[in-house]
Amino acid sequence: MSEIKKVSVVFKVFRFNPDNDVLPYYKTYELEVTQEDVVLDVLNKIKWEHSGSLSYRRSCRHGICGSCAIKVNGKATLACKDNVLELANIFGEELVLEPQNQKRAYKDMVIDKSDFWDKYDAIKPYLIDDIDENPETGEELPEKEIIDRKRERKMELWQKEYERIRMYLEYLSLEKTE
Ligand code: FES
Repeated sequence: MSEIKKVSVVFKVFRFNPDNDVLPYYKTYELEVTQEDVVLDVLNKIKWEHSGSLSYRRSCRHGICGSCAIKVNGKATLACKDNVLELANIFGEELVLEPQNQKRAYKDMVIDKSDFWDKYDAIKPYLIDDIDENPETGEELPEKEIIDRKRERKMELWQKEYERIRMYLEYLSLEKTE
């Protein structure tokens, strides 16, 4: 069995805690990473082994929900998808980890997304189904039809969710950075 190769990479991480810091600053961490590691592994390693106060969002860990979006050397990145050594090949062995927008940083990588959700709610960028899930016609749907409708409804919700993430990432990449 071949040995897992480790490479030392320097990470300059954007830190800001409005309770303690007047201004944001960058903290440097030097970590050994393997070819398996994605950016989220690095954030986890920093949090679990070096600085428990580091804040970032993550949820699905499968590149679906979009919650882990940050910037690496200015590149919009899904932390749970982008491989650290591939990024190091592009940018060199010092990687700068920052929130998607520094002006919106609540704390470290966590940003305020409220205006996006307000706009999203206002424009409703998805289909609104007209299936009456509880028809009052007195007519009972056959069980198979109810199951089929529920299955279709779930598929629609997944598609809407996927589209929502895609739009959010597009919105962030179009947004002007300072
Ligand atoms: S945690 Fe969901 S896309 Fe990364």
